[in-house]
Amino acid sequence: MIPPRQSPPHFPFGSLILIAVVIGVGAAAFAYTAGWFSPHRLTPDRLVDAFSPGGEPLGHRRNHAKGICFTGHFEANGAGSALSSAQVFARGQYPALGRFNLATADPNAADATVRVRGMGLSISTPDGQEWRSAMIDAPIFPVSTPQVFYQLLLASASKAPDAMQTFAAAHPEIAAFGAWAKSAPWTGSYAEDRYNGLNSFVFTNGSDAATTVRWSLLPAAQPVPVSPEDLAKRGRDFLEQEIVERVRGGPLRWSMMITVANPGDPTADPSKAWPEGRRAVEVGTLVVQQIEDERNGPCRDINFDPTVLPAGMRTSDDPFPAARSSAYAKSYDRRTAEASDYPRTAADAKP
Ligand code: HEM
Repeated sequence: MIPPRQSPPHFPFGSLILIAVVIGVGAAAFAYTAGWFSPHRLTPDRLVDAFSPGGEPLGHRRNHAKGICFTGHFEANGAGSALSSAQVFARGQYPALGRFNLATADPNAADATVRVRGMGLSISTPDGQEWRSAMIDAPIFPVSTPQVFYQLLLASASKAPDAMQTFAAAHPEIAAFGAWAKSAPWTGSYAEDRYNGLNSFVFTNGSDAATTVRWSLLPAAQPVPVSPEDLAKRGRDFLEQEIVERVRGGPLRWSMMITVANPGDPTADPSKAWPEGRRAVEVGTLVVQQIEDERNGPCRDINFDPTVLPAGMRTSDDPFPAARSSAYAKSYDRRTAEASDYPRTAADAKP
Protein backbone atom coordinates (compact mmCIF):
# COMPACT_ATOMS: atom_id res chain seq x y z
CA MET A 1 0.00 0.00 0.00
CA ILE A 2 1.24 3.48 -0.89
CA PRO A 3 1.72 5.52 2.27
CA PRO A 4 -0.28 8.77 2.36
CA ARG A 5 1.81 11.74 1.13
CA GLN A 6 3.01 13.84 4.01
CA SER A 7 2.69 17.59 3.67
CA PRO A 8 5.96 19.54 4.38
CA PRO A 9 6.32 20.95 7.88
CA HIS A 10 4.56 24.27 8.10
CA PHE A 11 6.20 27.30 9.77
CA PRO A 12 3.47 29.92 9.88
CA PHE A 13 5.85 32.81 10.68
CA GLY A 14 8.57 31.96 8.12
CA SER A 15 7.02 33.77 5.17
CA LEU A 16 5.97 36.72 7.34
CA ILE A 17 9.56 37.16 8.50
CA LEU A 18 10.76 37.03 4.91
CA ILE A 19 8.24 39.69 3.86
CA ALA A 20 9.25 41.85 6.84
CA VAL A 21 12.93 41.52 5.89
CA VAL A 22 12.26 42.47 2.25
CA ILE A 23 10.19 45.50 3.30
CA GLY A 24 12.80 46.48 5.90
CA VAL A 25 15.67 46.33 3.40
CA GLY A 26 13.62 48.34 0.89
CA ALA A 27 12.77 50.99 3.50
CA ALA A 28 16.40 51.19 4.64
CA ALA A 29 17.59 51.61 1.05
CA PHE A 30 15.00 54.35 0.53
CA ALA A 31 16.02 56.11 3.75
CA TYR A 32 19.71 55.88 2.79
CA THR A 33 19.03 57.27 -0.68
CA ALA A 34 17.00 60.11 0.82
CA GLY A 35 19.90 60.89 3.14
CA TRP A 36 18.00 60.18 6.40
CA PHE A 37 20.96 58.35 7.92
CA SER A 38 23.43 61.07 6.97
CA PRO A 39 22.07 64.56 7.51
CA HIS A 40 25.22 66.12 6.02
CA ARG A 41 25.37 64.09 2.81
CA LEU A 42 24.42 66.06 -0.27
CA THR A 43 21.24 64.70 -1.88
CA PRO A 44 19.30 65.98 -4.91
CA ASP A 45 16.50 67.07 -2.55
CA ARG A 46 18.83 69.19 -0.41
CA LEU A 47 20.51 70.68 -3.48
CA VAL A 48 17.19 71.62 -5.04
CA ASP A 49 15.74 72.93 -1.75
CA ALA A 50 18.71 75.26 -1.40
CA PHE A 51 17.74 77.30 -4.50
CA SER A 52 14.57 78.65 -2.92
CA PRO A 53 14.92 78.93 0.85
CA GLY A 54 12.15 81.54 0.90
CA GLY A 55 9.57 79.27 -0.75
CA GLU A 56 9.60 77.14 -3.87
CA PRO A 57 8.34 78.48 -7.21
CA LEU A 58 5.53 75.92 -7.51
CA GLY A 59 5.13 74.55 -11.01
CA HIS A 60 8.38 76.15 -12.20
CA ARG A 61 12.00 75.15 -12.64
CA ARG A 62 13.83 75.43 -9.31
CA ASN A 63 16.59 77.41 -11.00
CA HIS A 64 16.52 79.34 -14.29
CA ALA A 65 12.80 79.59 -13.59
CA LYS A 66 12.25 82.57 -15.90
CA GLY A 67 12.73 81.95 -19.59
CA ILE A 68 11.35 81.81 -23.08
CA CYS A 69 11.26 78.84 -25.40
CA PHE A 70 12.44 78.67 -29.03
CA THR A 71 12.70 76.25 -31.94
CA GLY A 72 15.11 76.20 -34.84
CA HIS A 73 17.83 73.94 -36.17
CA PHE A 74 21.51 73.19 -35.98
CA GLU A 75 23.48 73.32 -39.25
CA ALA A 76 26.49 71.04 -38.85
CA ASN A 77 29.40 71.86 -41.16
CA GLY A 78 30.99 68.41 -40.83
CA ALA A 79 34.15 69.60 -39.00
CA GLY A 80 33.05 68.08 -35.68
CA SER A 81 33.15 64.54 -37.09
CA ALA A 82 36.93 64.53 -36.62
CA LEU A 83 36.25 64.77 -32.87
CA SER A 84 33.03 62.82 -32.36
CA SER A 85 31.14 60.15 -34.26
CA ALA A 86 27.81 61.68 -33.12
CA GLN A 87 25.50 62.18 -36.08
CA VAL A 88 24.86 65.75 -34.96
CA PHE A 89 28.33 66.64 -36.36
CA ALA A 90 27.83 65.00 -39.76
CA ARG A 91 27.20 67.76 -42.30
CA GLY A 92 23.45 68.39 -42.28
CA GLN A 93 20.58 70.16 -40.60
CA TYR A 94 18.99 68.87 -37.39
CA PRO A 95 15.96 70.16 -35.40
CA ALA A 96 16.71 72.14 -32.25
CA LEU A 97 14.58 73.08 -29.26
CA GLY A 98 15.87 75.53 -26.69
CA ARG A 99 15.13 78.01 -23.98
CA PHE A 100 16.68 81.39 -23.16
CA ASN A 101 16.60 81.86 -19.41
CA LEU A 102 17.72 83.70 -16.30
CA ALA A 103 19.55 82.08 -13.38
CA THR A 104 16.95 82.78 -10.74
CA ALA A 105 14.42 80.71 -8.82
CA ASP A 106 11.90 83.54 -9.26
CA PRO A 107 9.82 83.19 -12.44
CA ASN A 108 8.72 86.83 -12.01
CA ALA A 109 12.16 88.38 -11.44
CA ALA A 110 12.89 91.66 -13.20
CA ASP A 111 15.27 90.92 -16.08
CA ALA A 112 17.71 93.67 -15.13
CA THR A 113 18.25 92.14 -11.68
CA VAL A 114 19.63 88.78 -12.84
CA ARG A 115 23.33 88.72 -13.65
CA VAL A 116 23.58 85.24 -15.20
CA ARG A 117 21.69 84.34 -18.35
CA GLY A 118 21.52 80.89 -19.89
CA MET A 119 20.35 78.71 -22.72
CA GLY A 120 18.97 75.16 -22.60
CA LEU A 121 19.38 73.31 -25.91
CA SER A 122 18.36 69.96 -27.35
CA ILE A 123 19.39 68.83 -30.84
CA SER A 124 17.86 65.63 -32.27
CA THR A 125 19.22 63.52 -35.09
CA PRO A 126 17.55 60.99 -37.43
CA ASP A 127 19.34 58.08 -35.68
CA GLY A 128 17.07 58.73 -32.68
CA GLN A 129 19.80 60.29 -30.54
CA GLU A 130 19.70 63.62 -28.76
CA TRP A 131 22.26 66.08 -27.42
CA ARG A 132 21.00 68.15 -24.48
CA SER A 133 22.98 70.93 -22.91
CA ALA A 134 22.40 73.86 -20.56
CA MET A 135 24.88 76.73 -20.84
CA ILE A 136 25.41 80.11 -19.21
CA ASP A 137 26.92 83.41 -20.30
CA ALA A 138 29.58 83.41 -17.56
CA PRO A 139 32.97 82.12 -18.80
CA ILE A 140 33.54 80.10 -15.62
CA PHE A 141 31.42 78.56 -12.85
CA PRO A 142 31.70 80.20 -9.38
CA VAL A 143 32.96 77.08 -7.58
CA SER A 144 34.87 73.83 -8.14
CA THR A 145 32.53 71.07 -6.97
CA PRO A 146 28.81 70.38 -6.52
CA GLN A 147 29.33 70.15 -2.73
CA VAL A 148 30.85 73.64 -2.65
CA PHE A 149 28.06 74.92 -4.88
CA TYR A 150 25.61 73.72 -2.23
CA GLN A 151 27.63 75.55 0.44
CA LEU A 152 27.47 78.66 -1.74
CA LEU A 153 23.68 78.44 -1.99
CA LEU A 154 23.47 78.09 1.80
CA ALA A 155 25.82 81.04 2.35
CA SER A 156 23.88 83.27 -0.06
CA ALA A 157 20.64 82.49 1.77
CA SER A 158 22.16 82.88 5.23
CA LYS A 159 21.11 85.79 7.44
CA ALA A 160 24.55 85.88 9.08
CA PRO A 161 26.14 89.16 7.96
CA ASP A 162 29.55 87.60 7.29
CA ALA A 163 28.31 84.38 5.63
CA MET A 164 29.49 85.28 2.14
CA GLN A 165 32.82 86.65 3.38
CA THR A 166 33.45 83.44 5.32
CA PHE A 167 32.49 81.41 2.25
CA ALA A 168 34.77 83.40 -0.05
CA ALA A 169 37.68 83.05 2.35
CA ALA A 170 37.27 79.27 2.37
CA HIS A 171 36.71 79.06 -1.42
CA PRO A 172 38.88 81.73 -3.05
CA GLU A 173 38.15 80.36 -6.54
CA ILE A 174 34.91 82.35 -6.42
CA ALA A 175 36.89 85.58 -6.90
CA ALA A 176 37.28 84.98 -10.65
CA PHE A 177 33.52 84.64 -11.09
CA GLY A 178 32.98 87.70 -8.87
CA ALA A 179 35.34 89.71 -11.10
CA TRP A 180 33.41 88.61 -14.21
CA ALA A 181 30.05 89.47 -12.60
CA LYS A 182 31.31 92.94 -11.67
CA SER A 183 33.05 93.89 -14.88
CA ALA A 184 31.45 92.01 -17.80
CA PRO A 185 29.14 94.20 -19.87
CA TRP A 186 25.40 93.50 -19.76
CA THR A 187 23.54 93.38 -23.05
CA GLY A 188 19.94 94.22 -23.92
CA SER A 189 19.29 90.93 -25.72
CA TYR A 190 19.56 87.19 -25.33
CA ALA A 191 20.65 87.30 -28.99
CA GLU A 192 23.87 89.16 -28.14
CA ASP A 193 25.05 86.80 -25.42
CA ARG A 194 27.57 83.99 -25.61
CA TYR A 195 26.56 80.71 -23.92
CA ASN A 196 29.23 78.44 -22.43
CA GLY A 197 28.82 74.77 -21.51
CA LEU A 198 31.61 75.06 -18.86
CA ASN A 199 31.57 71.36 -17.96
CA SER A 200 33.95 69.09 -19.83
CA PHE A 201 32.89 66.01 -21.78
CA VAL A 202 34.73 63.31 -23.69
CA PHE A 203 34.23 63.01 -27.44
CA THR A 204 35.16 59.82 -29.29
CA ASN A 205 35.51 59.76 -33.08
CA GLY A 206 35.09 56.97 -35.62
CA SER A 207 38.58 55.62 -34.76
CA ASP A 208 37.73 55.60 -31.04
CA ALA A 209 40.22 58.42 -30.39
CA ALA A 210 39.07 60.33 -27.27
CA THR A 211 39.41 64.06 -26.61
CA THR A 212 38.16 66.06 -23.63
CA VAL A 213 36.25 69.15 -24.69
CA ARG A 214 34.12 72.07 -23.61
CA TRP A 215 31.76 73.98 -25.90
CA SER A 216 30.36 77.47 -26.40
CA LEU A 217 27.82 79.22 -28.61
CA LEU A 218 29.14 82.51 -30.01
CA PRO A 219 26.49 85.04 -31.12
CA ALA A 220 26.46 86.35 -34.68
CA ALA A 221 24.82 89.51 -33.30
CA GLN A 222 27.24 92.22 -32.16
CA PRO A 223 26.93 92.71 -28.37
CA VAL A 224 25.94 96.26 -27.42
CA PRO A 225 26.78 97.00 -23.77
CA VAL A 226 23.95 98.52 -21.73
CA SER A 227 24.22 99.44 -18.05
CA PRO A 228 21.96 97.56 -15.60
CA GLU A 229 20.45 100.94 -14.65
CA ASP A 230 19.40 101.55 -18.25
CA LEU A 231 18.15 97.97 -18.57
CA ALA A 232 15.98 98.47 -15.47
CA LYS A 233 14.17 101.28 -17.31
CA ARG A 234 13.17 98.85 -20.09
CA GLY A 235 10.66 97.03 -17.91
CA ARG A 236 10.49 93.77 -16.05
CA ASP A 237 10.26 91.45 -19.08
CA PHE A 238 12.27 93.38 -21.67
CA LEU A 239 14.38 90.33 -22.64
CA GLU A 240 11.49 88.23 -23.85
CA GLN A 241 9.75 91.18 -25.50
CA GLU A 242 12.97 92.04 -27.32
CA ILE A 243 13.67 88.47 -28.50
CA VAL A 244 10.12 88.03 -29.80
CA GLU A 245 10.52 91.21 -31.88
CA ARG A 246 14.01 90.32 -33.01
CA VAL A 247 13.10 86.84 -34.27
CA ARG A 248 10.12 88.32 -36.13
CA GLY A 249 12.71 90.25 -38.13
CA GLY A 250 14.61 87.08 -39.12
CA PRO A 251 16.43 84.06 -37.68
CA LEU A 252 19.20 84.45 -35.10
CA ARG A 253 22.51 82.61 -35.27
CA TRP A 254 25.27 81.36 -32.97
CA SER A 255 28.36 79.43 -34.03
CA MET A 256 29.14 76.35 -32.00
CA MET A 257 32.80 76.16 -30.96
CA ILE A 258 34.33 73.02 -29.46
CA THR A 259 37.50 73.63 -27.44
CA VAL A 260 39.87 70.70 -26.97
CA ALA A 261 41.77 70.30 -23.67
CA ASN A 262 45.53 69.89 -23.62
CA PRO A 263 46.92 67.21 -21.30
CA GLY A 264 46.95 68.61 -17.76
CA ASP A 265 44.13 71.13 -18.29
CA PRO A 266 41.65 71.25 -15.36
CA THR A 267 38.93 69.11 -16.93
CA ALA A 268 37.22 68.32 -13.61
CA ASP A 269 36.83 71.92 -12.47
CA PRO A 270 34.50 74.35 -14.31
CA SER A 271 35.66 77.24 -12.12
CA LYS A 272 38.98 77.15 -14.00
CA ALA A 273 39.21 78.46 -17.56
CA TRP A 274 41.52 76.57 -19.87
CA PRO A 275 44.53 78.58 -21.00
CA GLU A 276 44.29 80.60 -24.24
CA GLY A 277 45.42 79.01 -27.46
CA ARG A 278 43.66 75.67 -27.12
CA ARG A 279 42.56 73.98 -30.36
CA ALA A 280 39.06 75.22 -31.18
CA VAL A 281 36.86 73.74 -33.90
CA GLU A 282 33.81 75.53 -35.28
CA VAL A 283 31.36 72.68 -35.86
CA GLY A 284 28.23 74.46 -37.08
CA THR A 285 25.58 77.09 -36.49
CA LEU A 286 22.55 77.17 -34.22
CA VAL A 287 19.70 78.94 -36.01
CA VAL A 288 16.81 80.18 -33.85
CA GLN A 289 13.77 80.52 -36.10
CA GLN A 290 10.77 80.85 -33.86
CA ILE A 291 9.96 81.91 -30.31
CA GLU A 292 7.53 79.48 -28.71
CA ASP A 293 5.00 79.93 -25.95
CA GLU A 294 6.77 79.42 -22.60
CA ARG A 295 3.79 78.29 -20.54
CA ASN A 296 2.09 76.03 -23.08
CA GLY A 297 4.93 75.29 -25.49
CA PRO A 298 7.44 72.50 -26.08
CA CYS A 299 9.98 73.59 -23.42
CA ARG A 300 7.62 73.27 -20.52
CA ASP A 301 8.01 69.54 -20.06
CA ILE A 302 11.64 69.13 -21.01
CA ASN A 303 14.57 68.86 -18.65
CA PHE A 304 17.80 70.01 -20.35
CA ASP A 305 19.79 67.33 -18.51
CA PRO A 306 23.43 67.68 -19.59
CA THR A 307 24.02 63.93 -19.36
CA VAL A 308 21.62 63.22 -22.23
CA LEU A 309 24.30 62.70 -24.88
CA PRO A 310 24.47 60.89 -28.22
CA ALA A 311 26.89 58.02 -28.85
CA GLY A 312 30.28 59.64 -29.54
CA MET A 313 30.00 61.89 -26.43
CA ARG A 314 30.24 60.93 -22.77
CA THR A 315 30.77 62.55 -19.39
CA SER A 316 34.33 63.16 -18.19
CA ASP A 317 35.99 63.36 -14.76
CA ASP A 318 34.00 66.58 -14.19
CA PRO A 319 31.66 65.78 -11.24
CA PHE A 320 29.07 68.42 -12.17
CA PRO A 321 27.02 66.74 -14.93
CA ALA A 322 26.05 63.79 -12.69
CA ALA A 323 25.09 66.13 -9.82
CA ARG A 324 23.20 68.36 -12.24
CA SER A 325 21.38 65.41 -13.74
CA SER A 326 20.00 64.27 -10.38
CA ALA A 327 19.07 67.84 -9.34
CA TYR A 328 17.37 68.59 -12.67
CA ALA A 329 15.37 65.35 -12.39
CA LYS A 330 14.26 66.31 -8.88
CA SER A 331 13.26 69.80 -10.04
CA TYR A 332 11.44 68.28 -13.01
CA ASP A 333 9.57 65.81 -10.80
CA ARG A 334 8.45 68.55 -8.45
CA ARG A 335 7.37 71.04 -11.08
CA THR A 336 5.47 68.53 -13.21
CA ALA A 337 3.62 67.29 -10.11
CA GLU A 338 2.64 70.91 -9.41
CA ALA A 339 1.08 71.60 -12.82
CA SER A 340 -2.08 72.94 -11.17
CA ASP A 341 0.01 75.75 -9.61
CA TYR A 342 1.08 76.86 -13.11
CA PRO A 343 -1.86 75.82 -15.27
CA ARG A 344 -1.68 75.69 -19.01
CA THR A 345 -3.81 78.32 -20.71
CA ALA A 346 -4.03 77.25 -24.35
CA ALA A 347 -7.35 75.88 -25.57
CA ASP A 348 -5.75 72.53 -26.37
CA ALA A 349 -3.93 72.44 -23.04
CA LYS A 350 -3.06 69.10 -21.50
CA PRO A 351 -4.34 68.64 -17.92
C1 HEM B 1 25.66 71.32 -9.12
C2 HEM B 1 25.46 72.35 -9.94
C3 HEM B 1 24.13 72.73 -10.49
C4 HEM B 1 22.87 72.54 -9.97
C5 HEM B 1 22.50 71.88 -8.65
C6 HEM B 1 21.93 73.10 -10.91
C7 HEM B 1 20.54 73.09 -10.74
C8 HEM B 1 19.62 73.41 -11.71
C9 HEM B 1 18.20 73.15 -11.63
C10 HEM B 1 17.50 72.51 -10.45
C11 HEM B 1 17.64 73.56 -12.80
C12 HEM B 1 16.18 73.43 -13.22
C13 HEM B 1 16.00 72.10 -13.98
C14 HEM B 1 14.60 71.83 -14.49
O1 HEM B 1 13.61 71.91 -13.72
O2 HEM B 1 14.45 71.46 -15.68
C15 HEM B 1 18.70 74.11 -13.60
C16 HEM B 1 18.54 74.66 -14.84
C17 HEM B 1 19.58 75.19 -15.57
N1 HEM B 1 20.92 75.15 -15.28
FE1 HEM B 1 21.76 74.35 -13.67
N2 HEM B 1 22.61 73.61 -11.99
C18 HEM B 1 23.96 73.39 -11.76
C19 HEM B 1 24.99 73.74 -12.59
C20 HEM B 1 24.84 74.38 -13.79
C21 HEM B 1 25.91 74.73 -14.69
C22 HEM B 1 27.40 74.39 -14.46
C23 HEM B 1 25.34 75.37 -15.75
C24 HEM B 1 25.98 75.95 -16.97
C25 HEM B 1 27.13 75.63 -17.45
C26 HEM B 1 23.91 75.41 -15.53
C27 HEM B 1 22.97 75.95 -16.37
C28 HEM B 1 21.60 75.79 -16.27
C29 HEM B 1 20.66 76.28 -17.27
C30 HEM B 1 20.98 77.06 -18.53
C31 HEM B 1 19.39 75.87 -16.82
C32 HEM B 1 18.05 76.13 -17.49
C33 HEM B 1 17.75 75.04 -18.49
C34 HEM B 1 16.31 75.17 -18.95
O3 HEM B 1 16.00 76.14 -19.65
O4 HEM B 1 15.50 74.31 -18.61
N3 HEM B 1 23.64 74.80 -14.34
N4 HEM B 1 19.90 74.01 -12.92
